[in-house]
Amino acid sequence: MIRLLTYPLLTTFVLSFDPNTAQNQGDSTLICSTEKITVSVGVDVVLPCRLQPATDAESMRLEWTRPDLQPQDVHIHQDGRLLFENQNPSYSFRTRLFVDQLINGNVSLKLSRVTLSDTGKYRCYLPSIHQEAVVELSVVKSNVTGSHEPVQAVVGQDVILPCHLEPPFDVTTLRVDWIFNGELRVHVHRHLKDDPDSQHKKFKNRTSLFLDELHQGNISLKLTNVSETDEGNYTCYVPKLERQVNRGSVTLIVDQVEKKEVEQPDPTPSPDPPHLGPGLVAGIVISSLICLVCLAAGFIWWKRERMCPAQNPDEGQDNRPEDVPLQQQGQQ
Ligand SMILES: *[C@@H]1O[C@H](CO)[C@@H](O)[C@H](O)[C@H]1NC(C)=O
Ligand SMILES: *[C@@H]1O[C@H](CO)[C@@H](O)[C@H](O)[C@H]1NC(C)=O
Ligand SMILES: *[C@@H]1O[C@H](CO)[C@@H](O)[C@H](O)[C@H]1NC(C)=O
Ligand SMILES: *[C@@H]1O[C@H](CO)[C@@H](O)[C@H](O)[C@H]1NC(C)=O
Ligand SMILES: *[C@@H]1O[C@H](CO)[C@@H](O)[C@H](O)[C@H]1NC(C)=O
Ligand SMILES: *[C@@H]1O[C@H](CO)[C@@H](O)[C@H](O)[C@H]1NC(C)=O
Repeated sequence: MIRLLTYPLLTTFVLSFDPNTAQNQGDSTLICSTEKITVSVGVDVVLPCRLQPATDAESMRLEWTRPDLQPQDVHIHQDGRLLFENQNPSYSFRTRLFVDQLINGNVSLKLSRVTLSDTGKYRCYLPSIHQEAVVELSVVKSNVTGSHEPVQAVVGQDVILPCHLEPPFDVTTLRVDWIFNGELRVHVHRHLKDDPDSQHKKFKNRTSLFLDELHQGNISLKLTNVSETDEGNYTCYVPKLERQVNRGSVTLIVDQVEKKEVEQPDPTPSPDPPHLGPGLVAGIVISSLICLVCLAAGFIWWKRERMCPAQNPDEGQDNRPEDVPLQQQGQQ
């Protein structure tokens, strides 16, 4: 009985506690992205916000502002147009609403060619229905980092050429290119998929990105069935960000045969003197060390016996009774 009664009560409490519904006086709630949006300098970004349930926002006044700026207006929409008179100049010609989607309650703001100073908290406000929410945007300047150390592989193996953006940002929707020795296209990823038509035939069917890592800015390349002609310099970059972000590079070194395999065919220890040379030396050194330690220990024991022959048993007995009272004191 108690459970049946408390359940709806609890649900009501939880729902009204939700910050998004807390200010709901109409029948629609403004819901914006609660996760901080991190993007690179130079890209376009959408700050997602919508009215739920979907409500026609076409005729509403819609304010996108940054309270920390002066003037604070980023994009004010009223009577079907942008009120640019008081717009902060740094946002001139860089903001846009999805006007044809306002009717569905989509009040998202698109910012073009973001700069570092676009980092901040954006407030979306609909005065007529008293709805407001905040979206946090972080714009970072990243470096593309390949590998300082060359990557080594053996003919026929698969290899990962590491490359990532630091600090990381989501490159899922951006074009990513890999180039070999400054000329051949190794791999092109664009429009959310690989573009095999633009890659050199030498790399056909042999390359892939880690698609589920792209959102973390990881653009590492997997190259399969490595051959000697794959040896060289690989460059990774994001063409859209060429002006803001450098390129990364990785050097691949290809060995014809695995070095370990040359030594492995003879795993049985043969008493071949040249092969055992280092082993023997190590053995002698270790044995000598053990002997020295034994001798030293023996000498010390012998000396103690000689100097105070009757003390040893007494010491052992004295220690124990002392320990017990000490422990009891500690516990009290
Ligand atoms: C609003 O519309 C734009 C453009 O179609 C879309 O990219 C965005 O995801 C939509 N946002 C929401 C919250 O529906
Ligand atoms: C990017 O690289 C440049 C030089 O290569 C360096 O000065 C800068 O600190 C790096 N930035 C980051 C965020 O690592
Ligand atoms: C190579 O690509 C062809 C189509 O272009 C495909 O049929 C084949 O399965 C691929 N081979 C491998 C090993 O992926
Ligand atoms: C990128 O992804 C690859 C494959 O999962 C992984 O080996 C590598 O460590 C990742 N790099 C970074 C910087 O996370
Ligand atoms: C690997 O590449 C070699 C040529 O470099 C080719 O002969 C061989 O069939 C390839 N192996 C696989 C598994 O694709
Ligand atoms: C790769 O780059 C290194 C230094 O960046 C250079 O010394 C080397 O000659 C290059 N190798 C090729 C094959 O271009």
